Amino acid sequence: MCLKSELILDFKKSRGTISPMIYGHFSEHIGGVFYDGLWVGKDSDIPNIRGFRKDLVEKLRAINPPVLRWPGGCFAETYDWRDGIGENRPVRYNWWTSCDNRYEDNAVGTHEFLDLCEIIGAKPYFAANMTSVTPMHIRNWMDYCLSPRGTTTLAKEREANGHPEPYVIPFWGVGNENWGGGGNMRAEYYMDEFRRYAEIMQNITGIPAIIENNGGKRIELFACGSPQDDYSWTHGIAQACHRSGKQMRGFAMHYYCGAAGDPITFTEAEWTQMLVQAQLMEDIIVRNWNIISGHGLQEHLKLVIDEWGCWHPGGSGPSKGYNLFEQQSTMRDAMVTALTLNIFNRHCEKIRMANAAQLVNNLHCCFLAGGENCITTPTYHVFDMFKGHQGAEAIDTVVTDNDDFASSLSVSASVKDGKTLLTIGNLSCTEDAVISLESVGLPLAAKGQAVLLVNDDIHAHNTFENPDAVTPVEFEFDPAQPITIPKAGIIALTF
Ligand code: AHR
Repeated sequence: MCLKSELILDFKKSRGTISPMIYGHFSEHIGGVFYDGLWVGKDSDIPNIRGFRKDLVEKLRAINPPVLRWPGGCFAETYDWRDGIGENRPVRYNWWTSCDNRYEDNAVGTHEFLDLCEIIGAKPYFAANMTSVTPMHIRNWMDYCLSPRGTTTLAKEREANGHPEPYVIPFWGVGNENWGGGGNMRAEYYMDEFRRYAEIMQNITGIPAIIENNGGKRIELFACGSPQDDYSWTHGIAQACHRSGKQMRGFAMHYYCGAAGDPITFTEAEWTQMLVQAQLMEDIIVRNWNIISGHGLQEHLKLVIDEWGCWHPGGSGPSKGYNLFEQQSTMRDAMVTALTLNIFNRHCEKIRMANAAQLVNNLHCCFLAGGENCITTPTYHVFDMFKGHQGAEAIDTVVTDNDDFASSLSVSASVKDGKTLLTIGNLSCTEDAVISLESVGLPLAAKGQAVLLVNDDIHAHNTFENPDAVTPVEFEFDPAQPITIPKAGIIALTF
């Protein structure tokens, strides 16, 4: 049996521009994300660019990562930026030492991370510690990174450390998960703290040379947003922000869709359960946005979903549990990625940025690496297939017969430079879907290019031994003819 539906593309109904930042990533100092993941060190035998794994950074660059969040996560809440500059860096416990008994030697610090951003062509997004350091400490970090050469003492220290010109860091988070690890605060208390920190941080971002260096714009400050689908935090922030707190440009919420069965050997029922959990993202976006716009904040504030992804039990990755939170990524994780990115595209007018958590050897990752090995996951391929949505204008789509979630299609479409990109996930793991395209407002092109990611086995995943078990195929298609999307398949159609 197969499912038949019509997919209507309404070129007359724009949903706004998809911020490229929606396709962002997150790299925390946790487990194997940096050490033996991204970072191998400048003296390593493993080919590297300024200490970063060459193979990995080249593949990452190919998917146009627009922005990279760093250094945490929870890691940020005990991070002292001074530990990560200059020679003789200290070895410390970090936030995660209590979980994995590993130490932080600070080999990667501010300069190295900003090197990485330059290599991959991503904008940096710093998460500032507001739990265990003062606002002045963070202001000094900004001074160190952003001040023009030859001006302040901290700018001269940066110059002595090898980077004369100021860095461009357009986004700064004020805290992380402050309802939890970041100080266990109440929303009202957090907003008082946010105002205290943001006032001091905002002050330095108003210095003309710093604005000029940031492309004539002020640096954007993001506040800690809601945990999962708990809206009490959003209400608290919005009420307090309504009275004051206009420095806030982003509400940085987190949603992990959790686990459903084993990360690799899940059942068909658990396939669907995982997708249902992922689909909750749409509700979370809409409800948070309703609260924010209900307080009239929508003019200066947008949603930032700076951690999202599946959170399976650890131990299924190649390090067999050594790297904290490392998990394998199957076709199911790829489908969660497609479903989530389609949701973001459809709600692009509400979203400033999103960052998949995390990039390497961790939750919902695009890469698994260790020693000489480095592979891409099915999730990586979805980011590659969807990258054309970045900066495009989202248009309305309607799918007929799309009511039963378990056998429905996840869809979004956008237009850029006269080309339409339509991305579809067939959520059914048992039935193929056949769609006929209908168009409103523009004729369909005579031919198009398709990229399909699918595998007969929904548990398929890439390993060091078999790195291309899940890899996309490309072919031409005729938009006027019905198109088959195999069960559990993800397709990107350009025409
Ligand atoms: O991504 C792992 C952790 O999940 C992050 O450090 C934290 O912000 C979240 O709870």
